Amino acid sequence: MNSENEIILREDRLRAWFTRKFSKNDPMCKIDGFDIGWGGTARFATSQLSEYLDPQKNMTILDVACGYGTFLVEIGWRFPRATLFGLNLDFNPPHNLIFSLLSQGNVEAGLISADAIQLPLITDYFDCVSCFLGLQDIAITRGKESLSKVVSNLLRIVAPGKYLLLLDNLPADIFKTILKSQKQKFEMLLYDTFEAECRWTREIGEIAVELYAQGYLQQQLDSNYPPPDRQQALSKIRKKFAGELENQLRTQGYYNPWGTMVLFILQKKNTFR
Ligand SMILES: C[S@@+](CC[C@H](N)C(=O)[O-])C[C@H]1O[C@@H](n2cnc3c(N)ncnc32)[C@H](O)[C@@H]1O
Repeated sequence: MNSENEIILREDRLRAWFTRKFSKNDPMCKIDGFDIGWGGTARFATSQLSEYLDPQKNMTILDVACGYGTFLVEIGWRFPRATLFGLNLDFNPPHNLIFSLLSQGNVEAGLISADAIQLPLITDYFDCVSCFLGLQDIAITRGKESLSKVVSNLLRIVAPGKYLLLLDNLPADIFKTILKSQKQKFEMLLYDTFEAECRWTREIGEIAVELYAQGYLQQQLDSNYPPPDRQQALSKIRKKFAGELENQLRTQGYYNPWGTMVLFILQKKNTFR
């Protein structure tokens, strides 16, 4: 049931439900639809994880910065016997979409509303902790300098000998600096990169830029450092994203707002310090 083709079918069904308000030719159908599976990225990450965690075993997995659960649902499909938890800063709109998304995907999970910088969870517990495109948002809400502390929190709650999966589009050297600063010992089992299947035209790109700029501003407003002038902040983000759109259209002929995804799978060692 959890073969690659079965997961692709489930993604297609969930995407059809997720984009049901839009006609197939509406750019919003492509933009929103991308969130389901992230152009193959979610399948890539869970398939790599299944090299280390046996999908047929009972285990406990926590997905941090789960948003509205698009990665959590894929973990549920790949590891059908796992007990799942999702943690996010809040489950207010739009993150409350997670309830219907998990239910449509036929996946059950306990949900925890908390800040990744102060995880209210016990040490040495989970078989796997994942953070899928969460570090980039935590960098907005709690500052880039918080990321070492957040990753240290995530490593703390992983059981000895078990796994931490980090996937993001942060530059690899930022990841490496964060990992170097960790006091808890781990082995790096996997470092890999992935280009999401995403080749948008200018028409789709311009709409996506506006939506993503609005989303980025919302994260800034939820952050420790909310911008004093909302309009000015929005113009600045819009300008940056629009510049990236123009650059990509010029150099590669299409727009992929996500760039290269970087995946790390770490195994926590049994000893500390
Ligand atoms: C883009 S989403 C990540 C994608 C998500 N993992 C998924 O599968 O759809 C990033 C999430 O990080 C959450 N977030 C931002 N700062 C956070 C923090 N300090 N602690 C916990 N969650 C945070 C945001 O609320 C947002 O839902």
